Amino acid sequence: MDNTIYKKRRDNLEEILPNNSVLLLPGADLQYRNADSAHAFRQESSFFYFSGFCEPSSLIAIINNDMGLSSIIFVPPKDKLKEIWDGHRAGPIGAVDNFMFDKAYDNSQIDSMMPDILQGSEQVLYSIGKKQGFDQKVIDWTTAASSKDRHSKSINITDASSLIGNVRLIKDDHEIDLIKKACEISADAHIEAMKAVKEGDNEQYIESLYIHEFSKRGGRYPAYTPIVAGGENACVLHYVENDKDLKSNELLLVDAGCEYKMYAADITRTFPVCGKFSDEQLKVYEIVLRAMNAAIDSVKVGNSIMMPQEISEKVITEGLVEIGILDGDPDELHKEGAYKDFYMHKIGHWLGLDVHDVGDYMEGDDFIKFKPGMITTIEPGIYISNSMDVDNKWKGIGVRIEDDILVTKDGNENLTKKVPSDPHEIESLMS
Ligand code: GLY
Ligand code: MN
Ligand code: MN
Repeated sequence: MDNTIYKKRRDNLEEILPNNSVLLLPGADLQYRNADSAHAFRQESSFFYFSGFCEPSSLIAIINNDMGLSSIIFVPPKDKLKEIWDGHRAGPIGAVDNFMFDKAYDNSQIDSMMPDILQGSEQVLYSIGKKQGFDQKVIDWTTAASSKDRHSKSINITDASSLIGNVRLIKDDHEIDLIKKACEISADAHIEAMKAVKEGDNEQYIESLYIHEFSKRGGRYPAYTPIVAGGENACVLHYVENDKDLKSNELLLVDAGCEYKMYAADITRTFPVCGKFSDEQLKVYEIVLRAMNAAIDSVKVGNSIMMPQEISEKVITEGLVEIGILDGDPDELHKEGAYKDFYMHKIGHWLGLDVHDVGDYMEGDDFIKFKPGMITTIEPGIYISNSMDVDNKWKGIGVRIEDDILVTKDGNENLTKKVPSDPHEIESLMS
């Protein structure tokens, strides 16, 4: 296993961390579903990004001072019996030899050693408020470190969320390859599911097709709970019940992406259960598709992340006026935010190790501008629930289309375009 890439990511922090500081990265703990039945372990994303190390209850301290940068990891100790039950542990020796940390210790030593590690530093940085119980631990270690020498400078506790997020925001080639693979697997799963769907299928059965198609291609877990929403259910944005039977006159919205080697894909497609869009469904669908294509075109180096947002709002407002759902001047309606009753979420989010990945959306007082190596979703939608005051023929139509877009030097690359979004291509795939 070549872990050089993770070591290089730690080394790069020398340029970014303040002098005389310590960055703490807590790993995830094992989570239990019920009683003593554990979920499969999933490492915390930033911890993984800087280590590649996948054992629970570990902690990294990266120290930047006059002697340069050094990294310490605390890991579960070697334990013959536990390893028989739960599998191999690297132990401190393995963490140094295979993961290239400067020093490694048993995690049982964290509380006793951390005050000494922090003593003399001026800043301790970590992602505040993210891990339960960790804030209090940092306060305790910092207090203990300060009390060791009352004549030393005080140690400031600083939130590292932006610092870490903005490093992770620009994906390196290794990450881009893995995200492309997650996208390819997820796209293939959407294609297979689209071909299979038929009237009377239960949403849960469709969900199982996705999980199966992900898993057989190497993406064992979905990157988030899939949304499999027939008809009106699509208007519940985070619908995850996935337990209703599909009717032939409904659209089916599926928002599903796999995780591949820790990296997420995030794809939504909306298609007719019977394989053919009705006139009303097609009209709404085509507005969302227009918004989608126009928004993707604006994902370019130097453009503000607000550009695809505004473009999608305007195209959707114009479209809703065209089909008579909104009434008035499109520019005025856009200014008033009339589209928000039908398109109530944002156009997208960063994608990476987490489906809603870290990374700031603001740069000072302005929205951030696209840079090469960023990956954003683009996911406009129109949702017309039964409770809305519109002609009955539109009710129960919910459409979202979502692709994953890599910002490149000279434009962008749609990593999920393999799944058809053109309505005619969808119909011919389903026929
Ligand atoms: N799948 C969650 C989202 O699209 O944000
Ligand atoms: Mn998304
Ligand atoms: Mn999604």
